[in-house]
Amino acid sequence: MIVAVLVFLCLAIGVGFLYWLLVLTEGTYLGPWAVAFLYDKGAGTYDRVKEFDSVDDAWYLAMPLQKALKGIRRPLILDVATGTGRVPLALLRNLDFDGHILGLDISFKMLQEARRKTAGREDRVTLLWMDGLTLHFLDNSFDAVSCVEALEFMADPRLALGEMARVLRPGGTLLATNRIGLDALLMPGRRFSADQLRKLISSLGFTSVEVKRWQAYYDLVWTRKDGRSSPGGRSRELQDVLCCPRCSEASLRWESGALSCRRCGSVYPVEKGIICLERPLDKAEMGVLAGT
Ligand SMILES: C[S@@+](CC[C@H](N)C(=O)[O-])C[C@H]1O[C@@H](n2cnc3c(N)ncnc32)[C@H](O)[C@@H]1O
Repeated sequence: MIVAVLVFLCLAIGVGFLYWLLVLTEGTYLGPWAVAFLYDKGAGTYDRVKEFDSVDDAWYLAMPLQKALKGIRRPLILDVATGTGRVPLALLRNLDFDGHILGLDISFKMLQEARRKTAGREDRVTLLWMDGLTLHFLDNSFDAVSCVEALEFMADPRLALGEMARVLRPGGTLLATNRIGLDALLMPGRRFSADQLRKLISSLGFTSVEVKRWQAYYDLVWTRKDGRSSPGGRSRELQDVLCCPRCSEASLRWESGALSCRRCGSVYPVEKGIICLERPLDKAEMGVLAGT
C-alpha cells in the first residue's frame, strides 16, 4: 500500500513538473530549442487561442508607438519575438505609418504565419529567423524596439533588454512587456518586480520609464534611450544595420537571392519569404545555389 502511494506521488510530481516545464513556462527552462519547437507546433492555432483584439492592439501598442515616432520620416523599427506579426500588423493598419519593421523570431513556423498575414507588404515588413537574445545589428540602429509578451521566454531577459538598448538609437523608444500576476511567480528569473525593472532600465541608459497595467498577465513598459540622435541622414537599408551572426561584421550583401557575408563567406538563404539567420547554408547547399 505504501509503495503504491509513493509511486502515485512520484507520478503526480513528475506529471506536474512536466506540465510546468512544457505548458506553463512553454519550454523556456529547457532552452531556446524547446521554445522554438513548442511555438512551431502551436503556430497554426496561436492567433485563434490568443483571440487578439485589433482595436486594443491599435490603442495600446500601435498608436503610442506611432506617437513616439512622430516627426521621423520612414522610421526603422525592430520587433523582437514578433510571433505571427502582431506588432507589424498593428502598425501597418495605421495609414499614417510610413516606416519599415524588422520582425524577428526563433520559431520559423510563427514567422511563416506572420509572412502569410503580411503578404503583399514585404516592402514594409522584413522577417528574420533569429534568436532575440543576441541581436545581430549594429549599435544605435533603430528608432524603436518592441518586445511584446516574450521577454520571459528568453534565457536571460536582462541580457535581452541590454541588447535592445544597444541597438536602439539615443532618443529611441522601447516598448516591452513584463509578466505579472500569479503565474509570473512560476517563472523565477524571467520576470521583474516593478522596482527591479526601473533599476535595470535606468542602468541600461534609459530615461522616463512608464509602467502601465495592460492585461491580467502583463504590464506594458515604455521608455526612451537617453540622449538624442537625428535619424535623418542615416542609411535605412537592412544590410547597413544587420551583422553576420558568424563573424559579427556588417558585411552582408544580397547575392543570388541570399544574404552572403563578404568577410567570412557565410550565406543566409531566404525561405518562404523569411531570412534564415539561424541556419547558414552548408557547402553542399551553397553549391546548389551557385548552380542556379
Ligand atoms: C507569446 S508569443 C508573443 C508573440 C508576439 N510578440 C505577440 O505579441 O503576439 C512569444 C514569442 O516569442 C518567441 N521567442 C521566444 N524566445 C525567443 C528568442 N529567444 N528569440 C526570438 N523569439 C523568441 C516565440 O517563438 C514566440 O513567437
